[in-house]
Amino acid sequence: MRDRLGREIDYLRVSVTDRCNLRCRYCMPGGVPSVEHAEVLRYEELLRLCGLAVGLGIHAFKVTGGEPLVRRDCVSFLAELKKLRGVEQVTLTTNGMLLPDHLEALRTAGVDGINVSLDTLDDGLYSSLTGSPPGTAALVWRAAEASAAMGIHTKLNAVLLPETVEGIVELTAAADTVPADIRFIELMPIGAGKGRKGLPASEALERLRTRWPDLEPTGERRGNGPARYYGSTSLRARVGLISAVSRAFCSSCNRVRLTSTGELKPCLCYGGGTDLRALLRNGGTDRALREAMACCILQKPDAHGFGEGGAVTEARGMHEIGG
Ligand code: GTP
Ligand code: 5AD
Ligand code: SF4
Repeated sequence: MRDRLGREIDYLRVSVTDRCNLRCRYCMPGGVPSVEHAEVLRYEELLRLCGLAVGLGIHAFKVTGGEPLVRRDCVSFLAELKKLRGVEQVTLTTNGMLLPDHLEALRTAGVDGINVSLDTLDDGLYSSLTGSPPGTAALVWRAAEASAAMGIHTKLNAVLLPETVEGIVELTAAADTVPADIRFIELMPIGAGKGRKGLPASEALERLRTRWPDLEPTGERRGNGPARYYGSTSLRARVGLISAVSRAFCSSCNRVRLTSTGELKPCLCYGGGTDLRALLRNGGTDRALREAMACCILQKPDAHGFGEGGAVTEARGMHEIGG
């Protein structure tokens, strides 16, 4: 359906858990108490909402977390989602730690793409950024390679941080050997990302152009998200820039988010979404649920408030709102 501004909303990010097996500095560095099991929507409940979302014109779904693969039977959920009538695309965003255990099943489930978060190839830096044991960066890298080798459309995600920026040329060159698109994401002031210094995508581009001077926007659409893709004659892969802060992409936003506790969020920047769980668990009819979802989409704000002077009213962390 279209929102007030005429934006076509056809993409739903579905968080299946707020839990995670990493402790990224900019997300949940100290760990946080997870929400109670009973507060999290059961898979049947999530599937019901996704089916209703199809009725509103949403055909692409992203399964996220926290880390989605830490929730038991996540891949079976994904397979069921993929089978729902009207669902055209189901993709997964993961930190890759558990990917090797699930790749075969994900392929069988027909996953349409996997995004693997890997901020740096530097083992020591990766472990210090994510609170993981030595060797984890290589494990995640191999998981992404294996995913691509299975023919799954695989992309890499790296958040732009002062610590990681030195490594982005190396990371891009490595991604190109796969080849897998690599996206550089501006740090957003959400949760532990607040008050931390991130780097603008323009700086990433400048650095990448020292190695690939002809990097230029290709204008391609290579997913459902906000990345703007760049290509070079000497790269097989594309470089995506997600300029979440410096170059708002809100005017072309196509998505809403469902948290693992059943809140529909029209924008990741603001708190106070629509509590679908209460409706679901109090006998809400399909019609009532669909209307609540449509109403939430109609309340989608014009733009986020990440920039200078903007307001961020979402008090929760990225792991709680689905990335
Ligand atoms: P695909 O390109 O289809 O794979 O989707 P995607 O790029 O949306 O997927 P992914 O889950 O990998 O998200 C990449 C980054 O984009 C994450 O850091 C998200 O938080 C960020 N992102 C996705 N949607 C939005 C949005 O609506 N607003 C902002 N500010 N960031 C977003
Ligand atoms: N700003 C930008 N990206 C973030 N991610 C997590 N927290 C933030 C933040 N504050 C990224 C993860 C992952 C993706 C889903 O979101 O690193 O790649
Ligand atoms: Fe986990 Fe992703 Fe948050 Fe890192 S950014 S702690 S991998 S949810």
